[in-house]
Amino acid sequence: MNQKMIIAIDGYSASGKSTLAQNLSKKLKYTYIDTGAMYRSITLLAIRKKMFHSDLWNITNFIPFLININFQFKWNNKLNRTDIFINKENVQSEIRSIEVSNKVSLIARIPEIRKKLTIIQKNFGNKKGIVMDGRDIGSNIFPQSELKIFMKGSIEVRSYRRFEYFKKKGKKISYEEVKKNLFYRDMMDLYRRISPLKKPKDSIEIDSTLISTEKQLNMVVQLIENIRLSN
Ligand code: DC
Repeated sequence: MNQKMIIAIDGYSASGKSTLAQNLSKKLKYTYIDTGAMYRSITLLAIRKKMFHSDLWNITNFIPFLININFQFKWNNKLNRTDIFINKENVQSEIRSIEVSNKVSLIARIPEIRKKLTIIQKNFGNKKGIVMDGRDIGSNIFPQSELKIFMKGSIEVRSYRRFEYFKKKGKKISYEEVKKNLFYRDMMDLYRRISPLKKPKDSIEIDSTLISTEKQLNMVVQLIENIRLSN
């Protein structure tokens, strides 16, 4: 009855997926896997290798860097969050930069990169007891997952939240610039050819515009209880 499950959380950029996923993983003692952070880490790698200056679209130039790529997610006790490590380097802070945010959609639409990350993400699911968030988790990575959540929210509220995040970190960026980036990423996610952002038919929708993070958590915990009781 208390069997561990896979919880898939998809939705729009800055709609609160990672906050809900982190809160759930803490509550259930599950592993949190942030797949957006994986696409961001590869983008960071591409920026460092100056791929955006050369011929990124000739993906064969980039493939050698992807072959033995290693991802780890580790709990950071000091900062009370999960950090992503790429090839053993903690890149959790660096991947949140506006430069990475502006370029990540170009990386996320490359079929070879999606294929590679799909395999790695599916492998994380071999061990149950995970909360995974992204854009194609319920539709593509774990269509069999026990619970699928789809998150949305008004572009204004989402932009404001992200703007406040950057402000707290001391980053100089305007609200308008943040909004433009979110809108651009929404469009790229919705209209990409491979695994676009799509609400799975059997998912539960949460509009985070007016619902507190605490209430969102309680709603999902209740859903999980109901699933457990019905099994
Ligand atoms: O969740 P995020 O905003 O950190 O994700 C960064 C980008 O990665 C996002 O603009 C779209 C892409 N992404 C994706 O295409 N598929 C996923 N499963 C997760 C993220």
